[in-house]
Amino acid sequence: MPVIAFANPKGGTGKSTSALILALELAHRGGKVALVDCDPNQVTAGWADARREAGESIPFTAIPNPGEGDVIDVLDDLAAEYPFVIVDLEGTASLMMSRAMSRSDLTVIPMQASPVDAKQAARAVALIRVEEKTLRRRIPMRILMTRNNPAIKTRDEKAIVQQLNAAGVPMLDVPLHERAAFRAIFAFNKTLRELTTKESAGLPKALENAEGYAYYVIKALKDEMGETTSDTSKAA
Ligand SMILES: Nc1ncnc2c1ncn2[C@@H]1O[C@H](COP(=O)(O)OP(=O)(O)OP(=O)(O)O)[C@@H](O)[C@H]1O
Ligand SMILES: [Mg+2]
Repeated sequence: MPVIAFANPKGGTGKSTSALILALELAHRGGKVALVDCDPNQVTAGWADARREAGESIPFTAIPNPGEGDVIDVLDDLAAEYPFVIVDLEGTASLMMSRAMSRSDLTVIPMQASPVDAKQAARAVALIRVEEKTLRRRIPMRILMTRNNPAIKTRDEKAIVQQLNAAGVPMLDVPLHERAAFRAIFAFNKTLRELTTKESAGLPKALENAEGYAYYVIKALKDEMGETTSDTSKAA
């Protein structure tokens, strides 16, 4: 417990990046984390594979490629064992996405501050609402703004935030900024804390952003689930 799914039927919105950063931050705080890669492209599982091949430790349990028919059992078993189960989903609406959301305690919808992304995020929200009807239960969700400029709030961004607020779609209080370090973790198969200044600029800011982001994901979980969420978050 709990299961946190990263979903958006639009590709390239930052699902895998934000899922991996969350897994790394929770593991850094001592949380026992499982990261389930449901995307056939196996981006997060690939990160773990590359580290295994290089003889590097993997801070979480990486679960590659559960089948559509198995995913519910896989998530139920992991949720019984792990305080945090993170699910990285493919950038298309699929049966896998529905099934993962049926087990999710929080669905995070990463989106960039562009009108196209806002439309696709609205589609993700609509898909979640359908799942809620099918399952006759609420699926808590939060929009996560990704790749925004830490220095400037664009007009698009302000308009989108207003639209989402008006539509009653909650947002995570901290966005994930556009940072070289968030790309470098994949380029070098490293954690944020392992990166060197040669490998990425702006490491302290990226780390600060990652910590704040993880803190607010845990806060959202606590707000939704009450105090059953692991105490690891207190260190955040
Ligand atoms: N906060 C960020 N700062 C810098 N680069 C980012 C950030 N978030 C994502 N990226 C880059 O954007 C691209 C897409 O990100 P990512 O793979 O996480 O998206 P995705 O939603 O998982 O994509 P897909 O739908 O294909 O699974 C990648 O090149 C990634 O390195
Ligand atoms: Mg991905």
